[in-house]
Amino acid sequence: MEINKFSVVGAGTMGHAIAELAAIAGYDVWLNDVSEEILNRARERIKWSLEKLREKGKVREVEEVLSRIRTTTDQEKALRDSDFVIEAIIEDVEAKKKLFSKADSLISKEGVLASNTSSIPITEIAQATKRPERVIGMHFFNPPVLMPSVEVIMGKSTSQETLEKALVVSNRMGKEPIIVKKDIVGFIVNRILYRVYDIACWLADNGFSIEDIDATAIHELGFPMGVFILRDYAGLDVEENVMKIMVERGFELYSCREFNRRVRAREFGVKSGKGFYSYPEPGKYVKPSIPKERAGKVKGISLISPAINETAMFLREGITTPEDVGKACRLGLGWPKSTLDYLKEYGVREVVEELRRLKDLTKLNHYEPDKYLVEMVR
Ligand code: 3HC
Repeated sequence: MEINKFSVVGAGTMGHAIAELAAIAGYDVWLNDVSEEILNRARERIKWSLEKLREKGKVREVEEVLSRIRTTTDQEKALRDSDFVIEAIIEDVEAKKKLFSKADSLISKEGVLASNTSSIPITEIAQATKRPERVIGMHFFNPPVLMPSVEVIMGKSTSQETLEKALVVSNRMGKEPIIVKKDIVGFIVNRILYRVYDIACWLADNGFSIEDIDATAIHELGFPMGVFILRDYAGLDVEENVMKIMVERGFELYSCREFNRRVRAREFGVKSGKGFYSYPEPGKYVKPSIPKERAGKVKGISLISPAINETAMFLREGITTPEDVGKACRLGLGWPKSTLDYLKEYGVREVVEELRRLKDLTKLNHYEPDKYLVEMVR
């Protein structure tokens, strides 16, 4: 497949990095956003990142890669005759539909429309176009340049040919694809992650300290970042939006006071200099230090069991394979193992008991052990 023109719409945290990856992959990229200021900032971030990659021998020529990225505030110019579009605009169904409807009339006949949505079912967005078979999800993880994988989501009408094109692109970008065969809200990675967020936040509302919870996440479960550190890193405002979309579409979540309070105070995390932790320079991530001695007050099995439960549902419903669950955890979230490995480690009987205990304690029905797990115990 020839991609002569590659377009990225939205030049924020995700969009600028996707454009960078596309340019590194050798594509000629048009990057579009609403103001020159945003585009200039995106260029600066891309340049900084490429310099970093050059230091590490991962990119040879910074200027050469940069020369493949053209920026414009003129959306029609960015989209016209494009062969592959990835949108990374705000997480808003109507905004995405509007963009895809417009893009549908401008891009090449065989062109593909990919969405970097982290939660909205692709089928919903595809409805706004006359080419639902050429619409697909390509959900990158933050930070896209460092994370080794991308979730590739098939909408109800997405064709095999479109999937193959998306796989070629992800492969050229050096990303291992995690294929989501059924288009469910939140896909795989975020559904697993939000199950951990959910119980962590309930524990924080009920007497456990944020540092103690993160200490268990890092030092017992081996996560690369604490649960609350990751929330600060992603941005609480972004997450609030994602949660709203997921809850509206039936994904049950606990409404967390510790989270809501910070959102109301506009403490969005790294970007505001304050979230669950404080960051001396807003916008600059400095890893909070979480001592090992604090692990243990919260049990690892409490944090991970809800995510294991979600995985059980995926396998029972044929949403993905054990292999792709492993990729989602290891490559999408940087965990040292899959939820299925944690299941083996803690034991299926113990996980089911823990879920029952959590359900009793929290009065939240979504901790009911999945029948797949209950069956395994039997
Ligand atoms: N480009 C190039 N280099 C970069 C960079 C970028 N964009 N960002 C950071 N770097 C560099 C750093 O400057 C540092 O360079 P140095 O070695 O010269 O100091 C190097 O990369 C490593 O950075 P860190 O020290 O911060 O690296 P860590 O070893 O701590 O790893 C991490 C960082 C890969 C982010 C790791 O902490 C991790 O895997 N965290 C989990 C992230 C995660 O779970 N993401 C998915 C969230 S879900 C999601 O994204 C869904 C979506 O919907 C939002």
